[in-house]
Amino acid sequence: MDKPTPNDLVRAALEARRNAVAKYSGFSVGAALATRDGAIITGANVESASYGLTCCAERVALFKALTGGQKDFTGLAVVAQAPGGPMPCGACRQLLSEYAHNARVWVADSRAPDQVREFSVQELLPAAFLEVPRIVDRNHAGAAER
Ligand code: THU
Repeated sequence: MDKPTPNDLVRAALEARRNAVAKYSGFSVGAALATRDGAIITGANVESASYGLTCCAERVALFKALTGGQKDFTGLAVVAQAPGGPMPCGACRQLLSEYAHNARVWVADSRAPDQVREFSVQELLPAAFLEVPRIVDRNHAGAAER
């Protein structure tokens, strides 16, 4: 499989966006992740009446990809009707830092999909929290905390 270009991924994200379930905000977002071996996994945002349960397009794509056995991501496109393209939220940046650290992130306004802005995950979330420090003695957490 040929490596998808940023434009290929933006096109896939635009297509995925059509299936967004954004009945509360009306803000439909599409995402497409590329793997090193050339696969594309897409997602769109899904909203809930319990607003906090909403899941962003990026996370839907990432969770689909991870649970489909994919681990090595080279790119992510995110598309919505937003000037300059939608910037991933903090929660998505955290998960991208953990599971797609080397991916290039491309964002585009759905009205101008040829104008793509590129970011690294590192620049979206510098100094990320990437692992839980090991507590040596869980029975004496107080001591370990010092
Ligand atoms: N949203 C995404 O899916 N990705 C982003 O990068 C920004 C926000 C969604 C979440 C919610 O469904 C709607 O956009 C409004 O916040």
